[in-house]
Amino acid sequence: MKGTPITEELHAYIVETFAPEDDLLKRLPAEAEAKGIPQIHISPEQGKFLQVLMGAAGAKKVLEVGSLFGYSTIWMARALPPDGKLITIELDPLHAQTTRENVARAGLADRVEVREGDARAILPQLAGEAPFDLAFIDAEKAEYLDYMDAALRLVRKGGLIIGDNASARGLVWRTDLPEEERGFALPIRAFNQRMASDSRLLSLLVPIADGMCVGVVR
Ligand code: DHB
Ligand code: MG
Repeated sequence: MKGTPITEELHAYIVETFAPEDDLLKRLPAEAEAKGIPQIHISPEQGKFLQVLMGAAGAKKVLEVGSLFGYSTIWMARALPPDGKLITIELDPLHAQTTRENVARAGLADRVEVREGDARAILPQLAGEAPFDLAFIDAEKAEYLDYMDAALRLVRKGGLIIGDNASARGLVWRTDLPEEERGFALPIRAFNQRMASDSRLLSLLVPIADGMCVGVVR
């Protein structure tokens, strides 16, 4: 393989140098775990990468599909200008409420709105609030293609559509997927394929954490 393997030490160096968590972000995962919320949030360097992408796109209006407990929400909202806005969609009432609380603790309640419900129903209702500069997709994998279709209607030209878990825990390329992993990996593979081949997008799977598929709308 070409390039430098990411060792534990190199990863630690990158996070310490570019993406240190503050006390609030450090506390959130354990608090969420105590409530029974799964520990499947993005990594600190993914949070910083989203901030960098927001900066590159001049993002003032951001859409997130899947809030979990607000970890990625807070990273992204911190990169918004004071008059910026982030709408995050969350199906699970406990996750939505926890995100609202965590966003308020971060002092970002004026910029973040949590919309509770099924993203497939909520996304079409956001047409009046478009255009968005960036959409970050990190919810039900079986629905990634639906979220992508909706995002293509809501994100402006020059904006970004980003999907988490594009590597599917390293399984995305496998032709001999174990039965129990198919529900996770196959929809991600289909999402990557559409991100790679849709003429409206210029995309790449970036191998950061569990992979982020980044597409520029053209
Ligand atoms: C898993 C990880 C994620 O980041 C996610 O969004 C959903 C599931 C997982 O590893 O199961
Ligand atoms: Mg994810």
